[in-house]
Amino acid sequence: MTDIRRPDNMERITTPELAKAYIDEQIEALRAQIGDKKVLLALSGGVDSSVVAAMLIKAVGQQLVCVHVNHGLLRKGEPEQVIKVFRDEMNANLIYVDATDRFLDKLAGVTDPEQKRKIIGGEFIEVFAEEARKLDGIEFLAQGTIWPDILESDAGIKAHHNAGGLPEDMDFELVEPVRILFKDEVRVVGKELGLPDNMVFRQPFPGPGLGVRCPGAITRDRLEAVRESDAILREEFAKNGLEGKVWQYFTVVPDFKSTGVKDGKRTFDWPCIIRAINTTDVMEVTVEHLSDELIDHLVNRIIAEVPGINRVLFDYTPKPPATVEYE
Ligand code: XMP
Repeated sequence: MTDIRRPDNMERITTPELAKAYIDEQIEALRAQIGDKKVLLALSGGVDSSVVAAMLIKAVGQQLVCVHVNHGLLRKGEPEQVIKVFRDEMNANLIYVDATDRFLDKLAGVTDPEQKRKIIGGEFIEVFAEEARKLDGIEFLAQGTIWPDILESDAGIKAHHNAGGLPEDMDFELVEPVRILFKDEVRVVGKELGLPDNMVFRQPFPGPGLGVRCPGAITRDRLEAVRESDAILREEFAKNGLEGKVWQYFTVVPDFKSTGVKDGKRTFDWPCIIRAINTTDVMEVTVEHLSDELIDHLVNRIIAEVPGINRVLFDYTPKPPATVEYE
């Protein structure tokens, strides 16, 4: 573990110029640390790991090996975007592992939220470690640790979620090029590195992915309903100028069915719940109130386009008392 800390007098990175200076400084430091050795990175496609990848590609090019594990719980289009941006456009050394079946088979029939999270986290480490073992000469492990992670670990609020978990025999030296940055600074740096806006300014997305938005035992058909309805919601928010304005928005498809009617026939299908929230610190959250037109349009599209859904509900509960995610 490195123990580099953010200097007390460090200027907040808010401009392209400050970002560029930070990038130049880091690239030099990365080259000095890594030399001609290889670095491994679990690239989820989230803001932090994407910025770390882009920085390392600049610093050490093909010495970086990115592993993108698709656990089958990613949003529509995410794995494709990671491949397009990093392999096709940035020429990164990217290993793509489609582990969907492995994860979904392990999760089959598991209803307890904590158990689901454990399985997803544990399986992720296993798949990543398997890929790492296939590679020769890796000495470094890059991580998208950011400054709030360190502060929260210091304060005992949460275990440092980006840190470790790899088997003990895999003893890599850590490389953490955004460790001293706040999230907004990571975004400015990412933009300066040329990452697309929808990667740099994306909303938060939980590690267990859509798995926590498919409450109870995950089935492939219900998971697909979550993924498709989420894609429609994101598309409509973008079209209506809400992308980047609303802090987080997503759909949940709970495990119960209700009666409906379609084309004159009875249906017995799931509801789709829409949640859109605003916050600054995620401890307290308010609900985004949508316009009547948008509500009607979302209902119509989701009902028409998502198989298995016959009802759309809106969750207007703040936090507290409700958490953002359902599990
Ligand atoms: P809750 O549901 O606790 O969520 O009100 C607060 C914020 O944290 C996100 N979240 C996660 N992020 N790993 C993450 O990286 C997780 O396991 C996780 N669970 C919740 C959630 O999306 C919200 O933004």
